[in-house]
Amino acid sequence: MLNKFNCFFVGSFKWSIFTEKQNQTEKNKIMKLLIIGGSGTIGKKVTQHFKSKHEVLVAGRFSGDVTVDIKDSNSIKSMFEKVGSLDAILSIAGDARWASFNDLTEEDYYIGIKSKLMGQVNVVRIGKDYLKPKGSITLSTGILGDYPVDKTTSAAMVNGALHSFVKAVDLEIENEIRVNVVSLGLVQDAYEKYKDYFPGHNPISMTKAVNAYVMSVEGKGRGEVIKVYK
Ligand SMILES: NC(=O)c1ccc[n+]([C@@H]2O[C@H](COP(=O)([O-])OP(=O)(O)OC[C@H]3O[C@@H](n4cnc5c(N)ncnc54)[C@H](OP(=O)(O)O)[C@@H]3O)[C@@H](O)[C@H]2O)c1
Repeated sequence: MLNKFNCFFVGSFKWSIFTEKQNQTEKNKIMKLLIIGGSGTIGKKVTQHFKSKHEVLVAGRFSGDVTVDIKDSNSIKSMFEKVGSLDAILSIAGDARWASFNDLTEEDYYIGIKSKLMGQVNVVRIGKDYLKPKGSITLSTGILGDYPVDKTTSAAMVNGALHSFVKAVDLEIENEIRVNVVSLGLVQDAYEKYKDYFPGHNPISMTKAVNAYVMSVEGKGRGEVIKVYK
């Protein structure tokens, strides 16, 4: 009886070690990540973090392991052809024109629409074909989508559109691919440069900013707008 109990105990103990190890391996799995905008203010901190445990490739218009201009679908396609199959794609790039509503021309609005909005939509549209099943795509917007400040009708508009996009694409995207968007407040490393545009806003620590991307890439969430505003 005692022996049997001992055997059973030893057996289940071994089994629990085995499953624990399996879980650890799963958690610590080395992934291949592509970070578009990985040398920018936010991107370089995110890249630094993920490089400590995963294989990371950085993309940008002028620097990185591979070049891309997200305004151009052909450029996005050619980037993905060069990097091959991926576990996760992060986009921490995209511009929009800041100016008073009275001064913004139609062409000015198209800057944000082509770069930050359609640039990132195209990263999902094209990038999904280069992702392994259950891979993830993380886009970037910002606090202006919820709390616009002066001169941001264009920037706020594209952020809001992307928030709707990730919720809708989650209903249809195949191969269990997860698409999320990280929406940060003004980050610490950009605070001095932009603080006058954000009266009364508290800077977001770079640790919190990085963790929002970690939550998207290593968590299980899908179709989420991950908001870090304080
Ligand atoms: N800074 C903040 O406090 C803050 C807060 C919330 C949200 N955001 C948003 O987060 C994103 C990144 O912000 P950031 O402050 O890190 O910007 P950043 O310092 O200007 O860095 C942008 C990065 O994206 C790349 N990039 C820019 N345009 C590109 C394009 N058309 N195609 C490919 N790569 C491009 C740049 O590299 P190259 O120059 O080599 O192309 C650079 O590495 C932006 O969309 C921004 O609106 C920023």
